[in-house]
Amino acid sequence: MTTTHLPPDHPLGSGLTADAPLINQYRGSRSSTGEPARSGRRPVWFMRQAGRSLPEYRRLREGTTMLDSCLNPELASEITLQPVRRHGVDAAIFFSDIVIPLRLAGVGVEIKPGVGPVLDSPVRTAADVAALPELDDAAFAPITEAVQRTVAELSTLGPEGSAVPLIGFAGAPFTLAAYMVEGRPSRDHLGPRAMMHADPETWNALAAWAADVSGRFMRAQVMAGASAAQLFDSWAGSLGRADYQNHVFEHSRAAFSHVAGLSGVNGVSAPLIHFGTGTGEILDLMKDAGADVLGVDYRLNLAEATRRLGPGTPLQGNIDPAFLTAGWPVLETHVREVIAAGSGAAGHVLNLGHGVPPETDPAVLTRVVELIHSLDDEAAV
Ligand code: CP3
Repeated sequence: MTTTHLPPDHPLGSGLTADAPLINQYRGSRSSTGEPARSGRRPVWFMRQAGRSLPEYRRLREGTTMLDSCLNPELASEITLQPVRRHGVDAAIFFSDIVIPLRLAGVGVEIKPGVGPVLDSPVRTAADVAALPELDDAAFAPITEAVQRTVAELSTLGPEGSAVPLIGFAGAPFTLAAYMVEGRPSRDHLGPRAMMHADPETWNALAAWAADVSGRFMRAQVMAGASAAQLFDSWAGSLGRADYQNHVFEHSRAAFSHVAGLSGVNGVSAPLIHFGTGTGEILDLMKDAGADVLGVDYRLNLAEATRRLGPGTPLQGNIDPAFLTAGWPVLETHVREVIAAGSGAAGHVLNLGHGVPPETDPAVLTRVVELIHSLDDEAAV
């Protein structure tokens, strides 16, 4: 963490993506009328836009495990680009997974189809935490290569040959540590929530380890060419406010510190987004942890999010994935309502309130993108 300068040829610093609709909204550049200030195109991308909803993804993934495909630069890059080509979204999100830093550090982990991340041995005691391996920076080589390949392709994939920004990401310390303690996905995350009270010292050591590997994973992606970074604290909504404040906040802040203020020669720094589900009661803390932009899930109306955070905070979200199968008229009304609810924030990037369900008809996603892009200069509702 020595420099805060992006390399000179970084797309954000060189100007390729600095004025992209996505980056403008993330930077809160809306005019006081609530309309996008510098570009008429309303930006949209989807969490899990790369993945099983796309037949071209299912074809490419045949015969390769999830984590092996993430570590194959050619494959990871191609999968990242697929939804940009198909849907015309305003951002690519790097195809990887929150457990990749564990794999790169040498922790035994697999992603079981239909289940999620499963560890060979859960991390539950002080001795387990002390035995966690060091993650060597050299291990990020396949990530750096995949990002570089992707960014080169993205440099002309936007409208009229413009560049599409790449978003890097990592798992937040709580969500990553939750998988490590439970050893597999769980509903209530009792393991990590018990550990932070029963043995705070071990919890803090584990969360600090997770913050370090996740922060460096995000930093590797931004330094290699990603123009923004999103920290996923998908399970933070299972925490009470006091627990978030006392046992998680500092660790998420530590993760963000690895990418804070990384700026190009033009002074533009990579926007940082913080997302979780069920996090309505802790949105302000998630912002204070180091986020420029708050990702909001489908449970909280965006106007209410702005009331809680103040109008200066750009928002991302929050189309309810359930509407994707509800039929077009119902979905269109919902999308317009989301746009209207977000209009009081300094910036708004459309997204889903959580990831694309695998059974989603991709044609519906493309139509949502077309609708959002068609609403440039007219009132949405
Ligand atoms: O398009 C994208 O959003 C990019 C890539 C991405 C993946 N995982 C690819 C993936 C991102 C940003 C993630 C993050 C991630 N991984 C999170 C945080 C976001 C969230 O959804 O809350 C979490 C909790 C994980 C852990 C994880 N990985 C789970 C729970 C699963 C699902 C398991 C299943 O099969 O249901 C995965 C696997 C995974 N990660 C897939 C993809 C495309 C599915 C793999 C497949 O094709 O079988």
